Amino acid sequence: MAESMRGMKRTCRCAELSEKNIGEEVTVMGWVQKQRNKGSIVFVDLRDRSGILQVIFEEGETDSAYFDKAGRLRSEFVIAVKGKVTARSGAVNKNLATGAIEVRAQELRILSESDTPPFPVEENSKTKEELRLKYRYLDLRRPDLQRNLMLRSRIAGIVRQFLIEEGFLEIETPMLTKSTPEGARDYLVPSRVHPGSFYALPQSPQLFKQLLMCAGYDRYFQIVKCFRDEDLRADRQPEFTQIDMELSFADEEDVMDVNERLLKRLFKEILDIDIQLPIQRMTWQEAMDRFGSDKPDMRFGMELKNVSEVVKDCGFSVFTGALEAGGSVRGINAEGQAAMPRKKIDALVQTAKDFGAKGLAYLAVNEDGTYKSSFAKFMENEELKKLVETMGGKPGDLLLFAADRDKVVYDVLGNIRLTLAESLGLLDKNEYKFLWVTEFPEFEYSEEQGRYLAMHHPFTMPFEEDIQYIGTAPEKVRARAYDIVLNGTELGGGSVRIHQDDIQETMLKALGFTEERAHEQFGFLLDAFKYGVPPHAGLAYGFDRLVMLMAGLNNIRDVIAFPKIKDASCLMTNAPDIVEDVQLEELRIQVTGKDE
Ligand code: AMO
Ligand code: AMP
Repeated sequence: MAESMRGMKRTCRCAELSEKNIGEEVTVMGWVQKQRNKGSIVFVDLRDRSGILQVIFEEGETDSAYFDKAGRLRSEFVIAVKGKVTARSGAVNKNLATGAIEVRAQELRILSESDTPPFPVEENSKTKEELRLKYRYLDLRRPDLQRNLMLRSRIAGIVRQFLIEEGFLEIETPMLTKSTPEGARDYLVPSRVHPGSFYALPQSPQLFKQLLMCAGYDRYFQIVKCFRDEDLRADRQPEFTQIDMELSFADEEDVMDVNERLLKRLFKEILDIDIQLPIQRMTWQEAMDRFGSDKPDMRFGMELKNVSEVVKDCGFSVFTGALEAGGSVRGINAEGQAAMPRKKIDALVQTAKDFGAKGLAYLAVNEDGTYKSSFAKFMENEELKKLVETMGGKPGDLLLFAADRDKVVYDVLGNIRLTLAESLGLLDKNEYKFLWVTEFPEFEYSEEQGRYLAMHHPFTMPFEEDIQYIGTAPEKVRARAYDIVLNGTELGGGSVRIHQDDIQETMLKALGFTEERAHEQFGFLLDAFKYGVPPHAGLAYGFDRLVMLMAGLNNIRDVIAFPKIKDASCLMTNAPDIVEDVQLEELRIQVTGKDE
């Protein structure tokens, strides 16, 4: 039976006690991690979010009513214990912060009993994630998850403090709003009052923060939920949190400066890591050419090399065919991997195919200087020698080549590079390599839609000298956009915004917006800009990703209290779910198809 805590007041958390408190009377409250009943003595490991404390009930010492009660305790009971801190009578437990002490109980209350939990509440759980997510409230009791969420809170605190010190104002923007053009699908919310009309949940506060600049707030930030209906991955959630900011009378240098100092403060205070400033910068084109990625992991080399010139007249039609079609041939050198077994090479070829390649050509330079290769028979010895030389190949190296359109080649080799680094153990978990990627293309051609889309969003300022190409050669136009990348993850992105209406008009036209549609979608922004808009620029971090990386994790769900799974559902609440017919009627919504 559950008792009240009337008359008892918690004096501290379990693991806040140490040898310094020996002799003190304390009252602690928490969950029973485990209970061991040795007859005349009952040991209880008491847990709260600070850690674990050993509590001892001893026959003759603890009042018999309480002693008997202690015998009934089971895992996950919530209890209150009043007692005295003493030096540990048994062996000191070096693994516990409180390992040198114990509390000898004088009083015990059972505040709440517990059924046997569906899985043990313990660090490094072996329980399947689905089960843990169904009982997330139990999962969240585990020390590793508690540490992650406490870290998350600390990071948010430091960010807030830093930005406020820097003169940023924290301002909220609406959740029930209109579609924002970040490029993912919207989550829609039907309006009851306006049947047939829908709010969109914000994909980001982009338009509102620009309006705040228009309104003179000059430095804004928000730690804010964003919603995107897109395919989920290990670092993507349908609702996620951004640290969002915007600055007036500012350009990319100002944004980068304040953010470099923010990151420096954060990594120093949280991880005691000194980030060297300034953070390295690299143009998008260079990142693609050298790493095949716009978010290169800079912890290792294995850079891409363009060998198109070397193979353009060779006899291997895979290579020459790709070049004739306007593509390129590029390779990476997996140093020292010449002896890689056939099976592993086949697996790499499969990985390449998964990323859209038609194949992956390889050439191993044997220790005796001979070659083992999938294409050597199509090439002259001189050509092969030149190719190996261009790749910096030495005896013992394995060279891998992709031939295709540039986009495919980058994607394939960029990913093969990461796959290899992972399997060869080249990624140091304790190393943090930041990079600004700059000069992104303004436009990206969508095969699917047969037109150009904004790579960042339609309000991103193009390079002045590139504006002339907007109408004629959009692929040439560079954007004043930048991403902050950490260890191969896109942590955040932003840009200098367009504040001149003629440039904005040209942009929108190039993106295929008619004047009407532009006005329908964000006329309020275009109108606002007619009344005096300061030059402005900004950036947003994926806060969940930042926490994930700072916690040394690779699953975003581990830093979110109540995350969703791959199909965007919540295993605990069963959301999304069907609703009552009356609700639909009120909204004048008819469902024409249902999930099986
Ligand atoms: P962007 O779309 O690049 O920019 O988003 C900023 C950052 O948010 C994170 N992010 C996500 N994190 C988890 N799950 C997702 N589904 C997800 N989608 C994005 C990424 C990304 O870098 N308004 C602009 C910012 C600006 O221009 O100021 C924007 O939203 O880490
Ligand atoms: P094939 O002539 O198709 O048997 O290919 C010979 C070798 O070239 C095999 O190792 C293929 O994996 C590889 N290959 C095929 N297409 C490509 C491509 N587009 N880029 C790189 N290698 C390829």
